[in-house]
Parts: sequence; C-alpha cells; structure tokens
Amino acid sequence: MIRLSTNKNIFDDYFHSLSLPESPASLYEPISYILSIGGKKIRPKMVVAGCGLCGGNPKDALPAAAAVEMLHNFTLIHDDIMDNADKRRGLQTVHVKWNSSTAILSGDALFAQAFKQLLYYGADNRFSKDQYQALVSSFLNATQIVCEGQARDMDFESRQHVSIDEYLLMIEQKTAALLQSSFQMGAIIAGADEKSVEECGNIGLKAGIAFQIQDDLLDAIGDPEKFGKKCGGDIAEGKKTYLSILALQQASIDDKAVLQNVLASGATTSNEISDVIQLYHKYDVINQTKSEIDRLYGEAISSLMYFRESTFRDEINTLLNQLQNREN
Ligand code: IPE
Ligand code: IPE
Ligand code: MG
Ligand code: MG
Ligand code: MG
Repeated sequence: MIRLSTNKNIFDDYFHSLSLPESPASLYEPISYILSIGGKKIRPKMVVAGCGLCGGNPKDALPAAAAVEMLHNFTLIHDDIMDNADKRRGLQTVHVKWNSSTAILSGDALFAQAFKQLLYYGADNRFSKDQYQALVSSFLNATQIVCEGQARDMDFESRQHVSIDEYLLMIEQKTAALLQSSFQMGAIIAGADEKSVEECGNIGLKAGIAFQIQDDLLDAIGDPEKFGKKCGGDIAEGKKTYLSILALQQASIDDKAVLQNVLASGATTSNEISDVIQLYHKYDVINQTKSEIDRLYGEAISSLMYFRESTFRDEINTLLNQLQNREN
C-alpha cells in the first residue's frame, strides 16, 4: 500500500506540475505568488488520505486535492482583504503587495481554476456520473457555505453580543465545511458507501472546528514568527472569537466594558491588545480554549476508529495529532 508520506510528495509534484497562463501578469502573478508561498496543505492531505482510508487509489484524488487547495487559497486572498491583514505565511498579503482590485480578480480566477480541476472526474469513465455529481456538489456546497460563514464573521464585528452557538455555526461554515468536504471528496473518489462518506465528513467537521478555535488561540497568543500572520489581528478587527466570547461571558462588569471598548474601537493600539490578552489570562480563557481544542480533536480521532486499521488510518491519526500541537 502507498503511504501517506509518499502521497504528500505525489500531491506536491502534481500541484507543481499544473501550469497557469502567464498573461496578463497582473492576474496570474499574484496567483503564482500565493500558491508558491506554500502553507500546510492540510486540505489536500485530507482528500488524498480520505481516498486511501476508504480503499481508493490516492493518486485518483490528486485533481480534487488540487481543487480544494486552490479554493482555499482563493478564500485566503479575499479573506485578507476583508480582515485588513497585511501578512500571510510570513509574507505580504496579495492585496498589500499589489492592491485590492488585483486581489479580488486573482481570487476569482483562482476559483475558476479550482473548479476546472474537477472536470477530470467527468471526463474519466472510471468515475460514475453519480460520483462526479457528488464531487461537484460537495465542492460547490462547501464554497457557498464558506461564504455564509465569512458573512457571519463580518456581521459579528459590529455586534456587541454573539452567543457561543452563533460563533460555532460561523466557524463551522467559514472553516470546517471545507475540511468536511475535503475528507468527503476523498471518500467519494474511492467509491465509498454513504455511511463512510458521512463518517469522513464528520471527522473533517470536528477537526475543522478544532482547527479554527486553535487559529483564534494562535492569533491571540501564538509566536508571530512561527504563525506567519500578525498576532492580535482578531482583537484589532473586533472579531468574535472563541476567546473573546468566553471572556465577555465571564468578565466582571468593568473588565467586560474594557473588552467591549477595545473590540469596538477599530483603531486598536498594541497596549490595548495586550490588555485584552491579559484579561484572557485573568479569566482562564486560554486554558478553557486549549481544553476545547483537545476535546474536539479527541472526538475526531475517535470517529476515525469507525474505519478498519490501515496505514492511512494511522497517518490521519498522526496528522490530527500534529495539528493539535501546531504553532502555525
Ligand atoms: C488558514 O488556513 C485559514 C483558516 C481556516 C484558519 P490554514 O492554516 O490551513 O492556512 P495555510 O494554507 O496553512 O497557510
Ligand atoms: C478564515 O478565518 C476563514 C477563511 C479564510 C475562509 P480567519 O480570518 O481567522 O483566517 P486567517 O486567520 O486569516 O487565516
Ligand atoms: Mg483572516
Ligand atoms: Mg477572516
Ligand atoms: Mg484567524
């Protein structure tokens, strides 16, 4: 059986072998830039591993893996405009290096490029019409749901009170839906039964929720050198994160007023960001957040045990453990 470590290389090789048009450079250079600065590639790893887990040939999953990685990068280019973020993967974001109009258009073209990867499954008669439809539907559904989550994320900036359930729905949509779809697409390509596709989706969803809560945590207390993004950005943008919601729930009236003022101010100083992080420590929000992340990854790992023992199951287990301890 092919091991996932080998598959990681087959994905990288496949991804790098894909070519983009060169002209106009103003459209394609930003796309090459964002794709070349890498990232953890967890979504394509999930597509490939999900396929192997369900008994398929991981190589068959490569075009779908490329599709989700491109879709993810498209969402990042646009997300960085929405979040006024100037750093991504340790380098300048696309809209800062070029400008917002260029970033919007390059993101759009990257989305089209992503979708085109899936045509492979419609053209190869080893895949049934139902499989092709299920793949396209999973991919497009995830795209739409990510947009819904992003809309909620922005709506919440101007709201004073957001409940934890509203927050969980928002992150399930903006982040976990794509991890869910990635794992499911792998299973669909393998020709897995409905129950296995659903189980793969559950693992991706749980891991995705944990992953976003952890992103919130790293945004507050991560090492910016390792994280590759500006820490404190969520506080500066007035984002409702797992940490800010817990802190607002638990703080005294005075501390709650401090938190609300900083989150609503829009022109946050580094002292104000430190004040908020101190409150996160004061109310033990950091430890509560870490426990929730561990709990959710634990659930994802136990759902994995639905599948029979295989090198793929071991590798996914390892990947989830690595994610649990990530610093970027
Ligand atoms: C960043 O995703 C966006 C979130 C959903 C938090 P990743 O952390 O997977 O980004 P890269 O691709 O590794 O840079
Ligand atoms: C990411 O949420 C969700 C999407 C990109 C769709 P964030 O805004 O927290 O992601 P980062 O922190 O910028 O990577
Ligand atoms: Mg962002
Ligand atoms: Mg965002
Ligand atoms: Mg974030």
